[in-house]
Amino acid sequence: MLYWLLRSTADHPALGRGEAPPGLLHPQEEARLAALRVPKRRQDWLLGRWTAKHLLQGWLEAATGERPPPDRLPVLADPDGAPYAALAGRGPEPQPQRLATSLSISHSGQWGFCALCDDAGRTVGADIERIEPRAHGFAETFFAPAELAALDAASPDQRDVLITATWCAKEAVLKALRLGLRADTRRVTCRLAEPGAPPRQWSRLFVKTGPVLQPAGGPTDFAGWWAINEGYALALVVAGRDLLTDLPPPAPFEM
Ligand SMILES: CC(C)(COP(=O)(O)OP(=O)(O)OC[C@H]1O[C@@H](n2cnc3c(N)ncnc32)[C@H](O)[C@@H]1OP(=O)(O)O)[C@@H](O)C(=O)NCCC(=O)NCCS
Repeated sequence: MLYWLLRSTADHPALGRGEAPPGLLHPQEEARLAALRVPKRRQDWLLGRWTAKHLLQGWLEAATGERPPPDRLPVLADPDGAPYAALAGRGPEPQPQRLATSLSISHSGQWGFCALCDDAGRTVGADIERIEPRAHGFAETFFAPAELAALDAASPDQRDVLITATWCAKEAVLKALRLGLRADTRRVTCRLAEPGAPPRQWSRLFVKTGPVLQPAGGPTDFAGWWAINEGYALALVVAGRDLLTDLPPPAPFEM
């Protein structure tokens, strides 16, 4: 299953100051925060942890009936930067144990956006981007030919949404593949269904990747969803083998 959560710095006054709310962080995370010096980076990193831990608490409670406190749910990073969730025992030891779920984090402006996918063998990518005008040169540099064609065919009033949501989808794909922007973004082609859809409604997203992005014989077609909320584009992508062509829709935005 695919789960997501959107939270903002307005949730807790400490987040906007780049300070950890009491009881949020595990000691390994406190050490990581202490190494982050740039205020905006501290704020983003904390907001990602805040959002991810709330998502993980809800997921664990639904699965096990237990809701561990946030400081027992460290959100750590692998050497490539990709986040993972762990569960720590009570007391100083033992080492936190990695949880069997894929996790993805994004932050933009005041928003933290996280997703998790607990299907074995599948990985999730989440991204959020502010919708704003972007030069055509941006798309020419980073977009695949089919994405440029979709942009050229779009009406002028849909252009800013389409270019931002397409970029957002591409970043979500590259997170699901754990590549980030080390990869050539033109090897990922995202097609958005319903570029004129109203805000706070998930629409389908279709993804094709070039074979060079994946190990030989690996899957190249993925599924996802995208939406707009308060002037931001959001994208969720699931990658993996034997992917259902009909990826079930994510939970709706609250009414
Ligand atoms: C991953 C990347 C595409 C995110 O770009 P962005 O739009 O600027 O930032 P977002 O807020 O959407 O996402 C940032 C989150 O992506 C996640 N991330 C970083 N590297 C990732 C990877 N290889 N795969 C999946 N997710 C990754 C992290 O959780 C990060 O947030 P956090 O560090 O606060 O936990 C971009 O940072 C990138 O490509 N980096 C290159 C890889 C890199 O330098 N990694 C760091 C090595 S330590």
